[in-house]
Amino acid sequence: MRRFDGKVAIITGAARGIGFSIAEAFASAGATTVIIDISEKSVQEAVRKLQSFEYKVIGFNADVTDGNRIDEIFKEITARYGHIDILINNAGITRDSLLMKMKEEDWDIVLNVNLKGTFICTQKISRILLKQKKGVIINITSIIGLMGNVGQANYAASKGGIIALTKSSAKEFGSRNIRVNAIAPGFIETEMTKVLPEEIVIKYLDAIPLKRMGRTKSISDLCLFLASEEADYITGQTIQVDGGLLM
Ligand SMILES: NC(=O)c1ccc[n+]([C@@H]2O[C@H](COP(=O)([O-])OP(=O)(O)OC[C@H]3O[C@@H](n4cnc5c(N)ncnc54)[C@H](OP(=O)(O)O)[C@@H]3O)[C@@H](O)[C@H]2O)c1
Repeated sequence: MRRFDGKVAIITGAARGIGFSIAEAFASAGATTVIIDISEKSVQEAVRKLQSFEYKVIGFNADVTDGNRIDEIFKEITARYGHIDILINNAGITRDSLLMKMKEEDWDIVLNVNLKGTFICTQKISRILLKQKKGVIINITSIIGLMGNVGQANYAASKGGIIALTKSSAKEFGSRNIRVNAIAPGFIETEMTKVLPEEIVIKYLDAIPLKRMGRTKSISDLCLFLASEEADYITGQTIQVDGGLLM
């Protein structure tokens, strides 16, 4: 018997990076795992990769800001499996520039995907979880949402918003046995951080007490814990996984 046998876990933005690592973790722990991501081709590739290990994985392409599509997908999953146990709101983007020069469209798209996308998926799933009287939601925020960052006013605001949304939804859903927590990664090796200039990377590494970038597995391991029975009295929290960068 594996730890998540019989459970259904949905992860957004799971075709690559942190989301893919989370999908892999739940699938290898026995969960029926649902990958949602914006590009159909990347979803298919990710599903194929995980199915090659004989994991129970399916995928849907969707934009997390498209409420109707998300609703349709969640309903289809419920019809197919009878329940949904875990939602990980992971899809996120950056459009960095100094606040003085930031285009409104870059503000809007980052707030839309990161914060509104998390709100939409949370609202749509809540109808199902509230009826079930159980469920777990984990929101992937960032330490930038706690500390701010030069050139990331939009991203920081969206991630700070996710922390507040996490607390509000934990308060609203707690009495129905639904836990909502957030994970705030620091500087993790993915496509998102690959694009950073070398001098920025060196500066970060110098400031991180553990002196290295984080691995996606550190985030997925925490997701498994927060979704498990061992975490059944933890809700409304934002847990940092950042090598000690922010303390
Ligand atoms: N990497 C880090 O150091 C770090 C640190 C703190 C927090 N985080 C957070 O962790 C999460 C994952 O980051 P990552 O580094 O793994 O990013 P990533 O490698 O860029 O992966 C993000 C995935 O989300 C997808 N996506 C983008 N917009 C979407 C939308 N509207 N609807 C559905 N899917 C969408 C992307 O698809 P396309 O590529 O096709 O657009 C991509 O597959 C994000 O929320 C990020 O803010 C990351």
